[in-house]
Amino acid sequence: MTEIEGLPSDVFILVIPFYVDKSYLQSGDGSSQISATINAPENNYADYAAYALVNGKLHIFGGDSDSKKIARLDDCTLNELTVRLNEEREIGHAALSIENGTKALICFGWSREYHRTCEVFDGSTTVSTFSADSTHYYGGLGLYKNQPTSVGCWSERHQKAETLSATGWTALPDHPKRISVHSLVGLENQSLLLIGGRDWGNDGGFQSGIWQLKDENWNQIGELLQADYYGSAIYIGRSIYYFGYTSKAIQRLDFNETEDLQNVAQIGNQPGNYYLPVLFQTVSDYCI
Ligand SMILES: *[C@@H]1O[C@H](CO)[C@@H](O)[C@H](O)[C@H]1NC(C)=O
Ligand SMILES: *[C@@H]1O[C@H](CO)[C@@H](O)[C@H](O)[C@H]1NC(C)=O
Ligand SMILES: *[C@@H]1O[C@H](CO)[C@@H](O)[C@H](O)[C@H]1NC(C)=O
Repeated sequence: MTEIEGLPSDVFILVIPFYVDKSYLQSGDGSSQISATINAPENNYADYAAYALVNGKLHIFGGDSDSKKIARLDDCTLNELTVRLNEEREIGHAALSIENGTKALICFGWSREYHRTCEVFDGSTTVSTFSADSTHYYGGLGLYKNQPTSVGCWSERHQKAETLSATGWTALPDHPKRISVHSLVGLENQSLLLIGGRDWGNDGGFQSGIWQLKDENWNQIGELLQADYYGSAIYIGRSIYYFGYTSKAIQRLDFNETEDLQNVAQIGNQPGNYYLPVLFQTVSDYCI
């Protein structure tokens, strides 16, 4: 097996858009972008699906094709599991690896109504857990101080952040904007980054800010080169790769050893306006 390194030139990201047959492999230094062949029961299998790693394997949850499905990427095929989500989660839900990657937390979303509910998937079963106090439709999930955290809501247009501990959800400081449809990324140093998104304080316009929640304070620490929303982000080595929807831009945010933001660069473009693509770090010749 090829060793996976963190330097951009050694990074390869499998991108699965809403149409699985548009999948591609993107290099972290921007030098290559090639088609990848992923098999799935339906071509729209990843449309509006949330995704997370469980025991190193990519899993996708819910979505437009089947709001309760759970599927796992084995070799180059998305295989549907017999275990299903407890709740229908068609769009606007989120998933996050928890407990050191051994489980996934899946929360929120819409299917006939907006859900505040959450469930935990351990690779074979799904168990319901605490519901959040507020809705977080397109509020996302990311780790803050090693606890799952969500921010804002596209439907309720609030600014609330809350975090899940062993005893339930508790409030964190409001985000300065009425934000949603952003991407959340937890850093190793326990802070949470919020990238892009739409701002109901500005008629739902999309924003370029890179925000950090650290020591219970929100601060803007930088700016995307291209404002965007509806994207996906992955943290590898000391870089976050953000795959944008409206600009199509693939932007790389580089951090130093102490996880301070150093630079933002555009390393390429998505081949289409691919919203919420599924991202998976892999090797240079995966499924090509
Ligand atoms: C988390 O997983 C990694 C890699 O599998 C392992 O090396 C580490 O010891 C684990 N940490 C905890 C706290 O379980
Ligand atoms: C990282 O960058 C910050 C600010 O840009 C700087 O203060 C810090 O010393 C840097 N850390 C290292 C290890 O270079
Ligand atoms: C985290 O922060 C500490 C102190 O602020 C620093 O020494 C360390 O290098 C930082 N980075 C990581 C990745 O832990």
